[in-house]
Amino acid sequence: MTVTDEAPARTTPAVKGLPVLGSALEMGRDPAAFLVKAYREHGPVFRMKLLNKTCTVIAGADAANFMNSREGRECLRSKEFWQGMVDEYGATRTLTGEDGESHRELRELMRRGYSRDAIKGRGPELIEITDRVLERDWKAGSTVPVVQAMQYLVTEQLGELLTGNAPREHVPDIRLLTLYVLNVLVTRQRPRVLLANPRYKRAKARVFELGERMAAELKARAGQTPPERRILVEDLIDAHLNRPGLVPQEDLVMTLTGPYVAGLDTVANTTAAFLYAVLKHPEVLARIRAEADAVFSGGPISDDDVRRLPATRYALMETMRLYPVAVALIRTATRDFTFAGHTIKQGEMVYIGTTVPHFMQEYFPEPAKFDITRYEKPRAEHLQPGAYSPYGRGPHTCLGKSFADVQMALSMARLLHRLDLELESPDYTLATKTAPTPGPAMSFKVRVKGLRN
Ligand code: HEM
Repeated sequence: MTVTDEAPARTTPAVKGLPVLGSALEMGRDPAAFLVKAYREHGPVFRMKLLNKTCTVIAGADAANFMNSREGRECLRSKEFWQGMVDEYGATRTLTGEDGESHRELRELMRRGYSRDAIKGRGPELIEITDRVLERDWKAGSTVPVVQAMQYLVTEQLGELLTGNAPREHVPDIRLLTLYVLNVLVTRQRPRVLLANPRYKRAKARVFELGERMAAELKARAGQTPPERRILVEDLIDAHLNRPGLVPQEDLVMTLTGPYVAGLDTVANTTAAFLYAVLKHPEVLARIRAEADAVFSGGPISDDDVRRLPATRYALMETMRLYPVAVALIRTATRDFTFAGHTIKQGEMVYIGTTVPHFMQEYFPEPAKFDITRYEKPRAEHLQPGAYSPYGRGPHTCLGKSFADVQMALSMARLLHRLDLELESPDYTLATKTAPTPGPAMSFKVRVKGLRN
């Protein structure tokens, strides 16, 4: 299928929704199921109404590939989606909300700090943090609220590795601020009046305190770390001091606390869903345990050890296929363009249903089945063009994805190596939430039956 056709534009079908609400309830309940159903009924382009907004959806493998194309880059921009958050922080811009040259410049500045290199040689440190958190929050005999426990684990890991600061006492503030910002200002699933809530205001003030303290400490020791050994926040402060146009004072708090926001919901939701899926599939658990026990019985781990955890990595990939945290990407059309014969007008809000193929038989046979062997060669179903997009597509593709892959594989292998866990009941079915990002509900719990190692 070509993206731009010469044929006359087709009439874009509209999904039939409820009066007033449109498709908001269905999208709120299960966005992936809704988008797949609409794609099957209407094809790769359709309109949907969400309360008082009408949006165009382009979905499927061609839509995912379109995001990577030059035309996709030119026709779609992120600015409007993130502007509310930028304003709330009193900042001038943010990486996720920039486009074109300004985005490229910021992304280049942050690339090394967010890359796989940021975790290179630091596996033992990651394991040490993981062990410390497991000993504190996952005691034998206790029942653990998984999403919340993962949020603490992730914040401490990202804090120490990317920012040199583990703000444990700030986790509830970062969680609350992220929740409100995403729900109210980014996805706009909740009304603005919520921003007047004193709990939100307190959380925001405390995150600002954290960001300002980080900025002051980093400025005080600027220039002391050689460039090749700097961590993300040191690169940011160096840019602020030497290229203030790139990172002005107003952007410091949002930029320095960015790693917590980027990783908190994404990694916590994914690892919580992973735990559920693995505990539901004892044969997968057995494979993960066997490789984890082999890796961790040989003393301190090395960078290559993550390659010795294929079942863990495939189980994480399968989790991200079935429980994607970003079901669709949201953009604004910068100009009129044609996709699959349909005209999309400048200024329209466009949802790109990049994960619709995750649930399609054509790409992933028996799509509802949790099957980690689909990633093994020769099947390698995820490598089909446009089929698999858990980390997004196009210029804003997750900058932390290689970091996250290593972080999640090592910490989940370690967790299953050390702990014997069980679901609250063997027939428990995962309760999920969709706001601010889809994932397991906060009510999801597991029991620590005992310690293995
Ligand atoms: C399961 C783990 C993760 C998933 C599924 C995930 C997913 C995503 C997705 C879908 C986007 C693109 C959003 C869009 O285009 O609108 C994104 C962007 C981003 N992610 Fe992740 N992410 C994960 C973990 C992380 C971690 C751990 C970090 C950093 C520590 C991180 C840093 C970023 C950054 C900086 C961007 C913005 C890139 C840009 O705008 O150029 N992510 N992520």
